[in-house]
Amino acid sequence: MMRRVAVPAEKLPSCGGRALFEFEDKSLALFNIDGRLHAIDDGCPHQGASLCGGQLQGRVIQCRAHGLRFNLETGYLLNSTAIKVGCYQVERGAIKYLSYSPDQQLINRLSSALALALVFAFASSAR
Ligand code: FES
Repeated sequence: MMRRVAVPAEKLPSCGGRALFEFEDKSLALFNIDGRLHAIDDGCPHQGASLCGGQLQGRVIQCRAHGLRFNLETGYLLNSTAIKVGCYQVERGAIKYLSYSPDQQLINRLSSALALALVFAFASSAR
């Protein structure tokens, strides 16, 4: 089910800024890049580090914990279409998101965690 949640004006980051926005059980990182808002889940799909404090390079956020980089336009890990962080449309100060059942949320998290475990296992075996 598609839902919308309005972001209070004081929570919207100014141009070049970022902010955390929490509602229901979600914690989102909001980025204002050149006047355009991007919203992603604040937890890195690898081990849950906050992405809000990551290093921003254009529209790419790099997790401070282990360096994974995510495209803020799509949520995907760079060079991947299998691993992504939750990414949300922001329109006129409101975030649009799909509301999943708790079972589907668990399945989504487990599939991302499994894909990341395989990526890290493959990377360490290639060294
Ligand atoms: S927790 Fe983000 S890369 Fe490991």
